[in-house]
Amino acid sequence: MALRIVPPISLRQFSRVRSGFVHSAFVGSLVLCALAFGKPATGGDATGRSESSVTATRELFRRGRFVFEKNCVPCHGKYGEGDGELVKGWQVLPRNFRLATFKYRSTPYGKLPTDDDLKRTIRRGISGSAMPSFSQLRDDEVDAVIAYIKFLSPAWNDDRLHAQPIDLPPRPAWFDDPARVRQSAEAGQQLFQQSCAACHGEKGAGDGFAAAQLKDNLDKPIKPADLRKPLRSGPNPEDAYRTIMTGINGTPMPGFESTLRPAQAWQLVAFLTTLQAAQP
Ligand code: HEC
Ligand code: HEC
Repeated sequence: MALRIVPPISLRQFSRVRSGFVHSAFVGSLVLCALAFGKPATGGDATGRSESSVTATRELFRRGRFVFEKNCVPCHGKYGEGDGELVKGWQVLPRNFRLATFKYRSTPYGKLPTDDDLKRTIRRGISGSAMPSFSQLRDDEVDAVIAYIKFLSPAWNDDRLHAQPIDLPPRPAWFDDPARVRQSAEAGQQLFQQSCAACHGEKGAGDGFAAAQLKDNLDKPIKPADLRKPLRSGPNPEDAYRTIMTGINGTPMPGFESTLRPAQAWQLVAFLTTLQAAQP
């Protein structure tokens, strides 16, 4: 099978824009400068925004920064670069929000996540990593911190990096019937050998023949996930389905939306369920 692995070129370009709070070459920079340095913007600005929308943006920025400084800085770092004081020696480092490479999305490979994707991550946390679940934050606090994360990279101002979520159907009814899950898992196993085992290994342990050569978009070696462990994507069949179809940005894990039919993806999910159930 030919794998279509689309390099996230535009994300890479943006990943070079690392220093400085604001990148001058994007629309709205005046507003953001005013925000970053705390100077009130007077009247409308060069982008034609009205004073009230500038004030509203500044207020959102302030509230978002407050939530971020209170809850996220020890890990994600003062400037959101993933280098907080707690993280020395960690295997799974916090995300660097300056690079705007997000893993757990409902959008196609290479695209930015939706607000709902970010909300899900913040509310649920990420299994197998230090990313906690923030159930105690109010909805408006989560919204504000999401807005703040978007101030941290100019990638968010690039229309080409935004996309609608892919079609994500609910799990088929047969997931409630263990006999039928087993049956689908057998079909899923065949598909897994064809499309996934090269990286993930025949039994999903992350030890396929191609595994040792894999690199991420920063050219660091990366291992395929051990699919016998709880998925970082989330605990539900829908979470595995979403990751299989959309892939994981910044890594060689491709999105299979254009190569797998939904029915096939569910069979693969059934197979993953049996791998996890087999663990003690
Ligand atoms: C105790 C450390 C810790 C704290 C506190 C923390 N995070 Fe994280 N966060 C992580 C780690 C580690 C990862 C990377 C997990 C991975 O790669 O699987 C992460 C990843 C993320 C991601 C990336 C999701 C994706 O799709 O790639 C988002 C968004 C995020 N954190 C938001 C937040 C926000 C917002 C806060 C504060 C409200 C916060 N985090 C607080 C450790 C932390
Ligand atoms: C080119 C190599 C490659 C192929 C082919 C591949 N994967 Fe992956 N996959 C990876 C890598 C690398 C990761 C880990 C990414 C990371 O560290 O965030 C991963 C992660 C995953 C995850 C997320 C695990 C988690 O904890 O949430 C799932 C699910 C997954 N792969 C399923 C599949 C399935 C099913 C197939 C076949 C349809 C497949 N992969 C094909 C390389 C690959």
